[in-house]
Amino acid sequence: MATPPAPPQPSMDMNANSKHMNPLPASVFTLPQTAQLEALFTIIRDKDTARGDFLFYSDRIIRLLVEEGLNHLPVIQRTVVTPTGASYDGVGFEGKICGVSILRAGEAMEAGLREVCRSVRIGKILIQRDEETALPKLFYSKFPNDIASRYVLLLDPMLATGGSAIKAVEVLMEHDVPEERIIFINLISSPEGLRKFSDKFPKLKIITGWIDEGLNEKAYIIPGLGDFGERRYCE
Ligand code: URA
Repeated sequence: MATPPAPPQPSMDMNANSKHMNPLPASVFTLPQTAQLEALFTIIRDKDTARGDFLFYSDRIIRLLVEEGLNHLPVIQRTVVTPTGASYDGVGFEGKICGVSILRAGEAMEAGLREVCRSVRIGKILIQRDEETALPKLFYSKFPNDIASRYVLLLDPMLATGGSAIKAVEVLMEHDVPEERIIFINLISSPEGLRKFSDKFPKLKIITGWIDEGLNEKAYIIPGLGDFGERRYCE
């Protein structure tokens, strides 16, 4: 009788998709590098993937990233009584959170955060390149009034040069959010952007889905997935 085929194995070892950055800075965390995650990324990277599938599968990755981000929030001891009358010594989240999306692509991550944290407050920040100085410039920001007392999940899907993300953190810090209370969540990072960002803010945790090879001359991540905002909202 023929031997049944072996079950599929993850195609890569746990560290393989950090091969473009080894070792990782202490503040950088990737999602568990499973075959399932690789399959989700393969779909959204494919230039022939239709917009509906791009939405569906990028949302699945965003959900995983948000859940991982929450794993990095501090907890305190919390005891509850179960329906059996017994008490259970567990934990609860220590503080309040809010999301801040970097427009426009970061907005795509808000729904994933809302699915996990009902009625979460969300701020927004718009940063664009200043045509005169070529530096990232703040155009708009709106935050919850008490943002300084919250943990902030900063949302932007693609960490390319790091310019916008760095500017966004500077703006948050000007609003008295301490660096160590910000968690930056993104789908794909370039090693250049990741290095620049983590060197500048070593106390800020970064949760990324995948670390790619690098940037091309137009500052697109390679192999990347193209323009996230275009694929999500326009194609
Ligand atoms: N933003 C994108 O949408 N894609 C990139 O590759 C880089 C920045």
